[in-house]
Amino acid sequence: MEREIFVSQLIKWYRHNGRDLPWRNTTDPYKIWLSEIILQQTRIVQGLPYYFKFLDTFPTIKDLAEAEEQQVLRLWQGLGYYSRARNLHACSRQVVSEYNGEFPSTYEELLKLKGVGKYTASAIASFAFDQNKAVVDGNVFRVLSRVFGIEDDIAEAKTFKVFESLADDLVRGKNAAAFNQGIMDFGAIQCTPKSPSCGLCPFSETCVAFNTGRQNHLPVKSKKVKVKERHFAYLIFEYKEQLLLKERGAKDIWQGLNDFPLIESKQSTSEDEVLGELKMEGLIHLDTSEMHKHVLTHQRIFAKFFRFKVNDSANFAKLQNHYGARPYDMDQIESLPKPILIENYWKQSIL
Ligand code: ADE
Repeated sequence: MEREIFVSQLIKWYRHNGRDLPWRNTTDPYKIWLSEIILQQTRIVQGLPYYFKFLDTFPTIKDLAEAEEQQVLRLWQGLGYYSRARNLHACSRQVVSEYNGEFPSTYEELLKLKGVGKYTASAIASFAFDQNKAVVDGNVFRVLSRVFGIEDDIAEAKTFKVFESLADDLVRGKNAAAFNQGIMDFGAIQCTPKSPSCGLCPFSETCVAFNTGRQNHLPVKSKKVKVKERHFAYLIFEYKEQLLLKERGAKDIWQGLNDFPLIESKQSTSEDEVLGELKMEGLIHLDTSEMHKHVLTHQRIFAKFFRFKVNDSANFAKLQNHYGARPYDMDQIESLPKPILIENYWKQSIL
């Protein structure tokens, strides 16, 4: 397909069919950056309330930079991929300290910011600063592979360059912002992974996939992600309206969020095994929850919650030491950032 025609048709399609989204009515890089970080791995309907909540709480990048990390994580709670929130916060501090509170305006400089990868840098550069830089993500792989019949395997790192150079070539000298927004919407609304609406498509005459019946074959993607199973026995120690929680450390899921002390095993542990590990005077087992399944991209977590009453302060202190946890009362727990698995259990069973 003729590249010039593809670009102008796509922009025309966008003018008629594009979604009216709040971050599209601005060129403020703070708002655009915030929306792009939220929308990494998150659907628009889910991300919208967070976008408004963050802007309400932190109207400027300086407000965000001055916040405590725990406040940022608490606001982020429920969106998942919490490293995004930590990077968001670190990036705001970086922009304030290294760039005097003003986002840099070029793709190359934007890439130096914490949590800003190629996609986000291209989005900010084109939407806020009118640079001719194309975004490349799953939507772009799908649309371009189908329209132009590109067979390279998108699971291979080197394929990124193939699509990046085609996309950059497409936007050269054009309205990159409209093209980028347009290809996102075209991929999300029309050229969908399953059952694309080819009957209504402006490119159906020349689209290679449509004309060779290969919509379901393109884009080519070989690797399957491996999913690891983990079994968590959460231990809830209660003493005088207080529970023990601990902040999760680095190199694992949910860094910086708070959960209960836990025993992790490769396989499901029986109630007897868990209770057997907790032989201690003055510990009264109250109940054991049902299994809670929590699915992440690369992990499936099976969690059970074992609730105990502790009957004296010396034992409570011993447990704190043993598990490296801290006591919190109910109001404090409410305001701590927690994984959704914990939040749901907490709302259902304890409050
Ligand atoms: N996904 C990522 N960035 C987006 C944007 N700017 N608009 C719509 N969906 C998106």
